[in-house]
Amino acid sequence: MKTIIEPFRIKSVEPIRMTTEAERSERLRDAGHNLFRIHADDVIIDLLTDSGTGAMSSEQWAGIMRGNESYAGAPSYYRFLEAMEALTGMTNVLPTHQGRASERILVEVIIGSGDTGRGLVVPNNAHFDTTRANIEHSGAVALDLLTPEGRDPARAALFKGNVDLERLEALLDERADDVPFVMVTITCNNNGGQPVSLENLQAVRSLCDRYDKLLFLDACRFAENAWFIKQREIVHQSRHVRDIARDQFALADGATISAKKDGLVNIGGVLLIRDDTLFERAGNLLILTEGFVTYGGLAGRDLEAMAIGFEEVLHEDYLRYRIRAVEYLGEKIAAGGVAIVQPPGGHAVYIDAADFCPHIPRHEFPGQALACGLYELGGVRSCEIGSVMLGEHADTELVRLAVPRRTYTKSHIDYVVEVVLELKARAQELRGYRIVEEPEALRHFTARFEPVEVPIAAGRADA
Ligand code: F0G
Repeated sequence: MKTIIEPFRIKSVEPIRMTTEAERSERLRDAGHNLFRIHADDVIIDLLTDSGTGAMSSEQWAGIMRGNESYAGAPSYYRFLEAMEALTGMTNVLPTHQGRASERILVEVIIGSGDTGRGLVVPNNAHFDTTRANIEHSGAVALDLLTPEGRDPARAALFKGNVDLERLEALLDERADDVPFVMVTITCNNNGGQPVSLENLQAVRSLCDRYDKLLFLDACRFAENAWFIKQREIVHQSRHVRDIARDQFALADGATISAKKDGLVNIGGVLLIRDDTLFERAGNLLILTEGFVTYGGLAGRDLEAMAIGFEEVLHEDYLRYRIRAVEYLGEKIAAGGVAIVQPPGGHAVYIDAADFCPHIPRHEFPGQALACGLYELGGVRSCEIGSVMLGEHADTELVRLAVPRRTYTKSHIDYVVEVVLELKARAQELRGYRIVEEPEALRHFTARFEPVEVPIAAGRADA
């Protein structure tokens, strides 16, 4: 059969509250036209993020009941440890409450705390915001080294998450002493959830060996990356995705993981460090700020859910459905004439908002206009990744439709496609925004906006 179905049945449901367009317009006004300020009950399809928003399996819920809440040495911790060892081949494993806690500890044990890292530079294909912020907080520079094709949203290529090896080599050649460690993010969230090939990871490993550098993975979406490798890197197509995932980890000296993505849980994280001395220091820091090394700021039941989630995520039926669902969303809206980052990534489809509403100049935030338009028209919540979020650092004006794992069915996705395409037909009606209130940092979370009034002479369709 050619139809790829959801490889699960639904046993427990969460009702969606239906709202009208008039109601949503009012909510949007009350929220200062900022979707982070909208009550989730007023959202029909929530594609704000794929992080911590997925559905757990019946096995995971059974694990939640089995969770043992002993402060030290809980059986749940040992089940978690065993699952992580089986997945990664690493034995030095710490649980943390989420990805950024792992990042903070990693940066502190290698670079130091406070502004100590002046002159240091940490390369990555592209640092996720929290990784960048933690590195910069230490005084070091977070450097992105994507290839030219990885930086071109319209260009479809198989592994747009790959590290630019020439630039990495040049950096290590010129200033090896300034590089405390190298990172690679799989998949690469910043440019559209794009995968990194195993060949590229192996080449990064060789460079790290040549210059005696530690290599860490930001492995939030390691299973989606492994699936892309199986599909697109021909020599691996007959291997099980579990073995490919393990190969990824085998190349690294450790990893930071947010379990809220491919851990298939609502909260949790992992820090892996092979080096025993660094690992011991990380454990001490964990105790200082998160919790004892056998629970790391989580409940025992969370460790059970992670142990099961990290195993389930590598079921090939699941990954086939998962990656296809996102690809299907991308295909349908692209076929309707909407420009997206090509090809669709593992966890999200990114719409080119500047192309969607060419009549809105960048300083009037086309991404904000599109995201608000999708909410108002269809109750679909998305996330602006452009001039609002990144200010003058934004190269592109994108809107991300992130798909939570195992949560929405194909008809939900079809509904989203319909909303996007109907809005596309009426894109001329979208107006730009101006910011009327903003905090000092991370303004996208709390800023308030107002639509820019369009003079009648500008000839709006409904003026
Ligand atoms: N690394 C990557 C690649 C991420 O995408 C995220 C989170 C993190 C690290 C941090 O993990 O949230 O558990 O502390 N990404 C979410 C998103 C927030 O919406 O893309 P965390």
